[in-house]
Amino acid sequence: MDRQLRILVTGAGRGIGKAIVSQLKNDPLKHKIAVTARTESELNEVVIGALGETLVIAADATSVNIPNEIISKVVAAWGGIDVIILNAGEADVQKIEDTTDAIWEKTLAINTTAPFRFIRAVTPIMKTQNSGRVIVIASIAGLMGEAFVTAYAASKHAVVGVVRASAVELNKYGITVNALCPGYVDTPMLDKGLDVTAARTGKTRDELRAALALKQPGGRLLTSDEVASAAIDFISNGETGQARWLDATTIGEKK
Ligand SMILES: NC(=O)c1ccc[n+]([C@@H]2O[C@H](COP(=O)([O-])OP(=O)(O)OC[C@H]3O[C@@H](n4cnc5c(N)ncnc54)[C@H](OP(=O)(O)O)[C@@H]3O)[C@@H](O)[C@H]2O)c1
Repeated sequence: MDRQLRILVTGAGRGIGKAIVSQLKNDPLKHKIAVTARTESELNEVVIGALGETLVIAADATSVNIPNEIISKVVAAWGGIDVIILNAGEADVQKIEDTTDAIWEKTLAINTTAPFRFIRAVTPIMKTQNSGRVIVIASIAGLMGEAFVTAYAASKHAVVGVVRASAVELNKYGITVNALCPGYVDTPMLDKGLDVTAARTGKTRDELRAALALKQPGGRLLTSDEVASAAIDFISNGETGQARWLDATTIGEKK
């Protein structure tokens, strides 16, 4: 990154989103950073100490008009938008027979439909600029199956499809669209899932945490900071206009 950027981060209040903002807000280029999630107090805390201008927008990203409204607010404040990091998400750990319609719909609404609406809303702005970076925090569950997360896995597979298709469509306008597909990350979301699993299995949180760590290639949970660094890497390494993809290598080469 060699210039000041106008950046929107969703789900910025805690976990991975908070780590992304924490890294960006100290950049000497004084990026303008807009943060959004439902819990305003967490957002206000996240932007403390930012070197550049900030915009706090508390909203439920699953409401139909909210993605449009958020993009409009950022553009009204700063005249455009260079980077959008779509991180807000939810996971319910449930047996398939306990996955209610409400869980299914809520999970797809935040993990798939909201990112689609944000990308749809920001596309005309980024096309006019002839540049833009879209980064979606998807999940390894968007690439493979896992027990007890049917709705989550479906929502993440679907958002990977949104990313793949929009990356191909928008590349010629100088817009890159990429997804990160991390394994287990040590965040409040993970803790919530461990509590549910502990209640179902009678195992302790520590036992479950250790078992999850062993499933990962490095034998440990990822940190929010590691995922944040990878997300920010897409901003700088995408400067050539070449979309990249961590899993499939060819997506940005299709024109
Ligand atoms: N933790 C993991 O193991 C892991 C692994 C792979 C991928 N991911 C993905 O990484 C992303 C971040 O996860 P995390 O672990 O950091 O989760 P987290 O700690 O639970 O934080 C989620 C963030 O999303 C926001 N959010 C949730 N629902 C929202 C809604 N309806 N409208 C607006 N904001 C909403 C939350 O704020 P409010 O509740 O205040 O709205 C919060 O700021 C998610 O997309 C997740 O699926 C996580």
